[in-house]
Amino acid sequence: MSSEAQTVLHTWSRPTEWNAPTIIGGTGARLQTADGRSILDMSSLSECSNLGHQHPRVVAAIRAQAQRLCFVTSAWGAEPRARLAEMLLEKSGFEGGRVFFTLGGTDANEHAVKFARQASGRTLGWVITRQRSYHGCSYAAMAFSGDSRTADQTDPALHRVVHVPPPYAYRCPFRSSNERACGIAAADCVSGEIDARGPQQIAAVLMEPNAGTNGIVAPDSFWPALRHATRARDVYLIADEVMSGFGRCGEWFAWQRYGAEGRPDLMTLAKGLTGAHAPLGAVLVSAPVARILETQVLMTGLTYSGHPLSCAAGVAALESYESEQLIARSRALGATMLTRLRELQVRHALIGEVRGGQGLFAVVELVRDRTTREPLAPWPQMHAGLRRLLAAALEAGVSFAARGNLLLIAPPLVIAEPDLTDALDLLDRLLGALARELSTEHAA
Ligand SMILES: Cc1ncc(COP(=O)(O)O)c(C=O)c1O
Repeated sequence: MSSEAQTVLHTWSRPTEWNAPTIIGGTGARLQTADGRSILDMSSLSECSNLGHQHPRVVAAIRAQAQRLCFVTSAWGAEPRARLAEMLLEKSGFEGGRVFFTLGGTDANEHAVKFARQASGRTLGWVITRQRSYHGCSYAAMAFSGDSRTADQTDPALHRVVHVPPPYAYRCPFRSSNERACGIAAADCVSGEIDARGPQQIAAVLMEPNAGTNGIVAPDSFWPALRHATRARDVYLIADEVMSGFGRCGEWFAWQRYGAEGRPDLMTLAKGLTGAHAPLGAVLVSAPVARILETQVLMTGLTYSGHPLSCAAGVAALESYESEQLIARSRALGATMLTRLRELQVRHALIGEVRGGQGLFAVVELVRDRTTREPLAPWPQMHAGLRRLLAAALEAGVSFAARGNLLLIAPPLVIAEPDLTDALDLLDRLLGALARELSTEHAA
């Protein structure tokens, strides 16, 4: 055991309980531990290693950039920064727009809101976000997030944030009878909130377009209706694509699923932007927002904004998604994965719903009772049986991620198909074992 357990504070864990293997290398979808084991990564770490681990092209680009120039502040130009901005604007269809580089997703969301407030002139304007969402962990980003884990750390009203119910069709807060209606009802609810406060009081709506970090996958009716409603009310729409971007939902950016009509006014990126080879986030602003901001001084400072090493990693990452056709691969393998997971659902009554699968991202929601949809444990708790399942999978060499009752399956886009099949076969066996455990507990 390394000294790390005694010396480091790790995120989302109690330090005295932290006890993870040390990773010393990786290749493709596999990680290598210090004690010589190979672990298949079924979550892309935190849904960020979309290109797999140690992607050779990205590693080479970082090395080459380090030899040329490690750092200049944004008071100076840097070649990879200029190149990456161009590539992002082209891939997103934000021609004539601009890019602000951050260090990750949290500060990208903070800056997107800052820019929306500045460009709209609604300096103290409200920001509408969703309950059961995650947008980061600084104070403002915690306020944006509808996350019960951190709800007592920040006061959304203080940050001029209001949360509305999500388009969670399986447990629709609007009691809609079908997915499509639930998506429309959620968008209508945002319209109602804007109208009630007055559009002039709203700086932006900030939401994930499709797959959500907290396990909600919006019905396809949601984003187009939300886009239409915000445009009609002259309110900026910010797409948080930190997790859903770079192929995770089968497109470069999840909103592209809905065509040019679905384009947001601002978009935030991180994670897959460099495939997590170096820390980097970005805010893309569309041409009309750029035209306003570019004549004003941006009262914001991040010493490492547009760090050349990270931008070089970003350029190589985008080239790799393109040359290896990973976006299309994610779409195709996502469909295969969805079919396979739906087969598991037929066999395992524990699976209440399988959703996602537009790319290599799927959510498996576990329930006690499929008819009543009673969750395996009350949200956001995790049932001890699910903890045991995750531990048994790791013991067998596969790392799955879960949040509450939800298994979030998001392997790197480069995962070998036989590895994906083996991992889902293992999940099949472990779900069978969990069902047997639960029925024994019930009988006892
Ligand atoms: C949708 C979404 N937004 C924002 C963030 C925060 O990004 P970061 O951890 O890079 O600050 C995350 C991270 O999980 C995320 O999934």
